[in-house]
Amino acid sequence: MQPKRRVTPMSHLATDRLGTDAAGIARAAGMLRMGQTVAFPTETVYGLGADARQGAAVARIFAAKDRPAFNPLIVHVATPDRAWDLVRHNDAALHLAAEFWPGPLTLVLPLAEGHGLSGLVTAGLPTLGIRVPDHPVAQALLSAFDGPVAAPSANPSGRISPTSADHVLAGLAGRIGAVVDGGACPVGVESTIVGFDPVPTLLRPGGVAQAAIEAVLGHPLALPADTAITAPGQMASHYAPRGAVRLDATAPRPGERMLGFGDIDGDLNLSAAADLSEAAANLFACLHRLDAAGGPIAVAPIPATGLGAAIRDRLARAAAPRP
Ligand code: TXA
Ligand code: MG
Repeated sequence: MQPKRRVTPMSHLATDRLGTDAAGIARAAGMLRMGQTVAFPTETVYGLGADARQGAAVARIFAAKDRPAFNPLIVHVATPDRAWDLVRHNDAALHLAAEFWPGPLTLVLPLAEGHGLSGLVTAGLPTLGIRVPDHPVAQALLSAFDGPVAAPSANPSGRISPTSADHVLAGLAGRIGAVVDGGACPVGVESTIVGFDPVPTLLRPGGVAQAAIEAVLGHPLALPADTAITAPGQMASHYAPRGAVRLDATAPRPGERMLGFGDIDGDLNLSAAADLSEAAANLFACLHRLDAAGGPIAVAPIPATGLGAAIRDRLARAAAPRP
């Protein structure tokens, strides 16, 4: 395997922790305008934002995360109308947007003429991943900034996604301009990604359950035929703690810490009530805590229904062999 191309990270940047009051939002929007990176909460996970029209700003995202530059970024806008300035929609996309935006759904659609985005955002692809987040702090920031914000999850590439400002700072302090501290993310797993190539296709399970999308479409989603587009969410190892991860465990082996679910208890439990929404909201915080404790991790079986599909997807990648 070829060594990953790395961009030199900017280190020793003083990273501000900003509040969610008007002053904090105004400062965050001002920093985005200046081409700096600002992490902010969404309902799914914290994003690491930059002005999607400024190439130098977008490059700072890749540098801070040490993200391979061939991985395209999701663009966040405040309203569907702003989205339709950037991408060309179709009937199915309009239908899904009407039902799930604002919310944890990303649509991959052809770029519109005159979109004005940096080519770094799409990694040169003719399509763009776009979403309208539902979190009040994300909405406030996008409205104040009044432009498209490119934002991948605010974690070092390949590591566990952040669902709190503390997670963001643990991974990226000194490498980003600021984080807006909006507390814990309520959904806890990343957005569901749907492409149209040409039929609606599930590119990544996430915060909107596959069945909910299929109910709106009136037919099943296609699954990707191949992995021609190399995306982090499609890479085998991702969302990875330092220690090995073993799935579908009913009890810990010697030396393992156990992440429980329902009746199968452990050092931590994703949801003692076996509630998959609660488990999704707790997933990355539990992995961060077990990662900090160190050593191998065993995880109880999680059903594949509803948000369980996204949880199982992230856990499978956390458990995958490391490059
Ligand atoms: O919930 C989320 O989606 C979070 C929050 C911050 O919005 N963002 C997020 O971004 O998860 P990221 O970069 O960690 O994952 C985005 C995924 C990647 O797998 C990327 O390759 C894929 O979306 N993606 C982006 N644009 C794409 C495109 N044009 N075609 C196919 N995949 C695309
Ligand atoms: Mg990510």
